[in-house]
Amino acid sequence: MERLLIDGGTVLSGELRASGAKNSALKMFAAALLADEPVTISNVPHLKDITTMIELLVSLGVEVVIDEKMNIEIHANTIKRFKAPYELVKTMRASFNVLGPLLAHYGQAEVSLPGGCAIGSRPVDQHLRGLEALGAKIDMSDGYVRASAPKGLKGGKIVFDFKTVGGTEHLMMTACLAEGQTTLENCAREPEIVDLANFLNKMGAKVSGAGKDIINIVGVKSMGSCSHTVIPDRVEAGTYLIAAAATGGSIKIKNVNPGHLEAVLDKLREAGASITVKADSIELDMRGSRPKAVSLITAPYPDYPTDLQAQIMAMNCVAEGSGRITETVFENRFMHVHEMSRMGAKVKLEANNTSAITTGVPSLRGAPVMANDLRASVSLVIAGLVAEGQTVIDRIYHIDRGYEQVEEKLQKLGARIKRLAPQIR
Ligand code: UD1
Repeated sequence: MERLLIDGGTVLSGELRASGAKNSALKMFAAALLADEPVTISNVPHLKDITTMIELLVSLGVEVVIDEKMNIEIHANTIKRFKAPYELVKTMRASFNVLGPLLAHYGQAEVSLPGGCAIGSRPVDQHLRGLEALGAKIDMSDGYVRASAPKGLKGGKIVFDFKTVGGTEHLMMTACLAEGQTTLENCAREPEIVDLANFLNKMGAKVSGAGKDIINIVGVKSMGSCSHTVIPDRVEAGTYLIAAAATGGSIKIKNVNPGHLEAVLDKLREAGASITVKADSIELDMRGSRPKAVSLITAPYPDYPTDLQAQIMAMNCVAEGSGRITETVFENRFMHVHEMSRMGAKVKLEANNTSAITTGVPSLRGAPVMANDLRASVSLVIAGLVAEGQTVIDRIYHIDRGYEQVEEKLQKLGARIKRLAPQIR
């Protein structure tokens, strides 16, 4: 397996352009199955998760055309099969979202259950309950969900038990081709949901209220062609801002929507960063000083995102003072703590492992560490950047799922980081 080698101790500085949002693009690929005509999606990041989703569409017989700028054209009407196999769904939970669009458009779908995941059990009960409320007949056997709606889906009212990003997106897109009106209540409000709703409306859907608690969808008979540019990746942008803050650096991120990162920018200001926001850029300057530790609780948007929890913990590990980070979205998202401890971090887990209390040390020590999920792995990169000596991060395929050109972007900011060829064991 490929590894990353980091020589720690550099202060990050310079400019970067944020990539397109992976979590938006993935759902649009699923939603493209609703259309009778080709759709084009632009600003798609070049990532492993995106390739997996394309493989899934191609396995259904869908024609996908990619140009050199990653503009992706999807011709869903070339579809031949309605089964998403385990081999593709197991590596990426977002692929489960093809179930509803296949069902809504073609009346049938067979999709593997996504199974367990390193950051918690992540069930799909809210997705399935919602599809049933729209009239789907659902059977589960051999690890597959088999859904049918021979007479089409019918609009209905769905109240989510709690905020779920994937659940909100899945039901929102499925309801576009259901007959009549659907109301979704207690919806998640993430910017990627708004981006998906804009994409659906460009295809001819009638979705209103995305980004609010209640979303209304008036079903349409068919959906057609459109072109859409994916929003900037707020998690990627937030990751580089936190990395710069941890190193006492100063960076500018371009092609970003600062409004999507307010909770994160508040925490970075609290850590001592001077932040300058323009319409589509964010500048952060630590003026060479050590960050101050922050305390936070992760929660659905607009609160502090779980996807930036591990990264800010890496910053806290070398910050002045002590901070408490509480994770409320996923039940098992502190696996990076053990690896950071191997680098000399002082972190104590409390309250049944839902809170991590850090006591900052002046510097970590480089060590061999192992990445175990996407965001945890990038937090180890940040830890490596602020450590003395060399850090080697194994299993970096996790980072490649969600960070486009991670070492090139960090090198541009002055980091000493390179990819090592797989070890021969
Ligand atoms: C999406 C994001 C992920 C982010 C997460 C929370 C994508 C591809 N992934 O994941 O990066 O960390 O939102 O912001 O967009 N749950 C259930 N039953 C369900 C659905 C969810 O119990 O049917 C639970 C999950 O286990 C989790 C919580 O609800 O504890 C939130 O999950 P959800 O918002 O659905 O996350 P994802 O859509 O999987």
